[in-house]
Amino acid sequence: MRTQVAIIGAGPAGLLLSHLLHLNGIESVVLESRSREDIEATIRAGVLEQGTMDILKNAGVGARMEAEGALHHGFDLAFGGQRHRIDLTGLTGKAITVYPQHEVIKDLVAARLAAQGQLLFEVTDVALHDVDTTTPAVSFVHRGEAARIEADFVIGCDGYHGVARPAMPQQGRQDFQRNYGFGWFGILVESAPSSEELIYAQHERGFALISTRTPTIQRLYFQCDPADHVDNWSDDRIWAELHTRLENNDGWRVNEGRIFQKNIIGMRSFVSTPMQAGRLFLAGDSAHIVPPTGAKGMNLAVSDVNLLAQGLEQFYRDGRDERLQGYTAAALKRIWRAEYFSWWMTSMLHTFADATPFEREVRRAELECVVSSRAMSTALAENYVGAF
Ligand code: FAD
Ligand code: DHB
Repeated sequence: MRTQVAIIGAGPAGLLLSHLLHLNGIESVVLESRSREDIEATIRAGVLEQGTMDILKNAGVGARMEAEGALHHGFDLAFGGQRHRIDLTGLTGKAITVYPQHEVIKDLVAARLAAQGQLLFEVTDVALHDVDTTTPAVSFVHRGEAARIEADFVIGCDGYHGVARPAMPQQGRQDFQRNYGFGWFGILVESAPSSEELIYAQHERGFALISTRTPTIQRLYFQCDPADHVDNWSDDRIWAELHTRLENNDGWRVNEGRIFQKNIIGMRSFVSTPMQAGRLFLAGDSAHIVPPTGAKGMNLAVSDVNLLAQGLEQFYRDGRDERLQGYTAAALKRIWRAEYFSWWMTSMLHTFADATPFEREVRRAELECVVSSRAMSTALAENYVGAF
């Protein structure tokens, strides 16, 4: 098999890159280890920045997002028994949209298949070859048969646990990371939303977040031990924890309902550089991870592949590679800004087991500053909507 661009991974990064390349007349093949049903059903992110929405709209895959996504003009920060609204639109002129990642995935898979795009699911034994030459290749097994794709470029969009990053030449690589020692317990609940806007809550027992999905489904998270197990958490125990962390004395209550999904994720920050070597490029979670507090992961995956698509378009149209050569530097600017913001939101809103009484008081004072100073609210809002 031969193609121009071999893409590993059918997450938001891989699927969108394949679609953007197609719009520029560039051929690609996407290799995905899971099934179509699985990738279309995995619940992950929810928040899309304006810039992400614009990229999806301009690529012709934004119709359902515009019709079904919920535009949010603000969110609440809750701490010290009170809620404070951050007026995103008033402070920045921009908004965000809550539209689940698996719906973005469904829209992109549909667009690729409608254009007869090559999307191979349930591949195994994916291995990269000759990435330091101009004729790289990927070998894999599909439907029991060994296969090999020769390409001009290989793009690793295969997430944090993928095979592309380990295939990068090790010399000159630098990884940056931070583990937070806590995780998020996420639930999906059948009930009307408790709040029209998101609520990010800081409480001495730990962080909690109310998000939404549809008029009949809520998404909630709370800080937990990443080594804990969902079976240790009965529905009653979960609701007790959420009521304690989220409610004040103003009579507002978290709406309970049937919990139909529970999961735990760990929290880490990670950046691996450079994001390219020869004809191999990394995009999205394969190169960097943010803790979910700032809602930036999927947005970064989209901005990475938008840059890569421009570089590949320049290469095939003009035979020039300045944009491709500048990919790591251009992508890292935005990535480090999102790393900073996600670290800041995480540090400000979570309870750290090893925090001294001094550090706890300083954190509380920081939250007071953020909600009482227009300059600090604006900085938070600009980062949240991605206005930079
Ligand atoms: P992935 O989505 O991880 O896709 C990688 C794909 O590669 C997968 O389908 C995987 O099966 C496949 N793959 C892996 N290895 C191989 C292999 N060897 N061969 C072939 N295929 C392979 N981000 C936001 O922007 N906003 C949010 O609100 C937000 N909330 C989040 C909440 C939670 C609970 C979690 C877990 C994440 C959240 N994120 C959020 C982060 C976001 O989900 C990720 O950053 C995003 O999925 C990254 O996309 P990606 O395409 O780079 O990687
Ligand atoms: C959601 C996830 C996030 O990480 C976040 O900060 C806000 C909302 C969500 O899944 O809806």
